[in-house]
Amino acid sequence: MTSTTELIDLCAAEDLADGEIRRGTLPSGHAVAIYNVNGQFFVTDDVCSHGEASLSEDGSLDGFEVECSWHYGRFDIRTGEPCAMPCEHAIRCFPVKIEDGRVYVDLGEDAS
Ligand code: FES
Repeated sequence: MTSTTELIDLCAAEDLADGEIRRGTLPSGHAVAIYNVNGQFFVTDDVCSHGEASLSEDGSLDGFEVECSWHYGRFDIRTGEPCAMPCEHAIRCFPVKIEDGRVYVDLGEDAS
């Protein structure tokens, strides 16, 4: 099995305070939400799977869960799994790497 690495630079880690969410954009134009929970960084899709809410603009963090303010659905930002109705479908999570004080997502893929 081989794997490729494609690191995308999203922001400086110091620009995102503990408990904050920020919007980022992948080279494809896909919007992502970047989270800082006690110095641990996570990246998910920015758009809620229930509607068109932006989790970085309309969401708030409660531990490892982001709550969408439109209808109060929640997701676990570690897995993307929904954890409160009306959200039923997972959002995508991206692998995060911190290097030289920058937050990256790895868009590389495993291939066998
Ligand atoms: S749009 Fe997010 S919970 Fe409805």
